[in-house]
Formats: sequence, C-alpha cells, structure tokens
Amino acid sequence: MSTRPPFPRLIRSAHLLAGAALLGACGRQLSAVDPAGPQARRIGELGLFLTVVGSVVWILVVGFLFYAVWRGRRRTESAGGPEVERTMWRWTIGAVAVTTVILLVVLVYNFDTGRRLARFPDESALVVRVTGHQWWWQVDYQDPRYDRRFTTANEIHVPVGRKVRIEVQSGDVIHSFWVPALHGKLDLIPGYTGVTAFQADRAGVYRGRCAEFCGLQHAHMDVLVIAQAPAEFAAWYDAQVRGAAVPADSPQQKGQQVFLSRGCVMCHTVRGTPAGSRVGPDLTHVGSRRTLASGTLPNTRGHLAGWVVDPQRIKPGTQMPPNPLPSDELHALLSYLQSLK
Ligand code: CUA
Repeated sequence: MSTRPPFPRLIRSAHLLAGAALLGACGRQLSAVDPAGPQARRIGELGLFLTVVGSVVWILVVGFLFYAVWRGRRRTESAGGPEVERTMWRWTIGAVAVTTVILLVVLVYNFDTGRRLARFPDESALVVRVTGHQWWWQVDYQDPRYDRRFTTANEIHVPVGRKVRIEVQSGDVIHSFWVPALHGKLDLIPGYTGVTAFQADRAGVYRGRCAEFCGLQHAHMDVLVIAQAPAEFAAWYDAQVRGAAVPADSPQQKGQQVFLSRGCVMCHTVRGTPAGSRVGPDLTHVGSRRTLASGTLPNTRGHLAGWVVDPQRIKPGTQMPPNPLPSDELHALLSYLQSLK
C-alpha cells in the first residue's frame, strides 16, 4: 500500500479542475486523476507524463513559430545565402532527432506501463466475473469453494488492500468496464473472456461506467465498486452467500406471493425461493444495494415503486416490461423487495 501523493499538488489541482469541468455533475467519484490504487496510479502517472511532454512540445513549437514570423518580417530584404541554408538544415535535423527521442521515450514508457498492468494479478487475488448486459452488470464471485459462490448485480464489493482479478464477458453486445479511480478500460467482447485487475488502497465508493456505446441506455450503465475494510467485506460476503431473507410479516409474505405469481419470477432469481430465472439481475439481496437500474436511481421505496411499475419511463428501451400492479399488491411487493437485505 502506498500513501505518497501521486502528483505534485498544483498539477493535480489543475488536473482535477479539468476533470471536474469534463465530468460535470459526476463528481470525483468518477475520477481518473484521483487514483485510489496502484493500477490507476500508473495510468495516471503516464497520463500526466504525456500531458506535460505534449504541453512543453506545443509551447516550444508555437514559440518558434512566432519567433520565425517575427524574424522573417525584419529581414525580408536580405536574401538567404549558403550559410542560412546550412543553419536551416542543422535545425531541421536537430528537431527530427529530438522528436524521435521523445517518441521513443513515450513508446517505452507506454509499453512498460502496459506490461506492469498485465502482470498485476496473483494467486491470492479475489476473482470476480463481470458480465455486461444491455444495460446492467452481472457480478459473480468466483470463490474456490463452490458453496461460497454467488451472483449479484451492479455493485462490486472488494476488501481494501487486496488484489482483485476481474474477468469480463458480454451477454450481448460490446461493452467496456471502466472504474477510473481504480483501473483502465477493458472491453467486453461477446464470446471472449478478458481479464483486468485492480486494488483499492483506501475505503470508499468508486463509480464506474460502461465506456463503449452499447445501445439506447449506454449512458445509464453504471457500476459501483465499494471498497471496505477486510472484516466489513467478510461480513458482507457471508450475508450475500446466504439465501434470501424469509418474509417476516404478512405484507412481506403477500409481497413474496406477488413476486412469485406475477411477471417478476419470469426474469429474476431470489435464492431460497422457486424464482430462479437469470434473464435479469439476481434480486436475492436487492434491498442491500445502493442503487437501482445500474446506478440510475437511489434504492429508495419511491424509486423502486416507479421502477417496478413503469421502467420504460425511467430507462426507455430497458428489457424490463411495465408492471401495472394494483396498489395493495405493489405495496406488498415493495415491502418484500426492501426486506431482501
Ligand atoms: Cu454497455 Cu455502453
């Protein structure tokens, strides 16, 4: 774990300002210039290096351009002799040499960064399989013990300080998995498993986003990485491994009946009940998640009601059909879903 500041403060502030301007309301949660792990830090350092080198080259080129214009104006009458010709050649060869050296340095640095990123995973890494769907993320924890494996959606909890190996797949079209504060982009190609890795060095919630246009709701395909202290993560993991909570009162019991007898059961799994379809997100612990519809809405009763009744209004084109339930059934269903912690 490294605690050294990744960038000089002034440049970092400038970076953050530029980032804030670019990302607008997304905030620092979705920041590539405030790295929270070694992978993102390497990429950030490379980005900073390229920005500085590019800026210096640009300033020099523009400076020379203005200088040439200024000098050219002053001596339009004096013709250029062999001496001037020789000086021009010297400058040209010098500029080509400097450009070649800069490009070579950039190339080597790039390769080196790529190699270090690829070498990152190790034996002790937590393995998580992430599958992109239009427009949500399926998350499968690949524990070596099969009875400790489970599926969730749109939220990846990880322990602070431990390497995480992410294996990506696609269920339909090409998506791209990107959590800027933790690692670089990785495309999800149908029929192919890609691998990336990261490690969160400090606790926090890091927002990620699909970074490849994948259809109508590409912009509403967020993922949250929640980095927790190891003990907290272990508790979360144990809770997720368990089946769904049993309905504790009559509204919840009624809600479960609604869930199992209406459209919900056709697409969703709630482990411990007969609902076992894998078309949509696993809802076994949906009540414990922070957001609904892949980071689109905060997970509150009101938003859940809106989402269940008319998802097409919130996320036009989503695979989930409308569910115009009678009011009493809807309330019972909401109570049930919220109880699935
Ligand atoms: Cu998935 Cu864009």
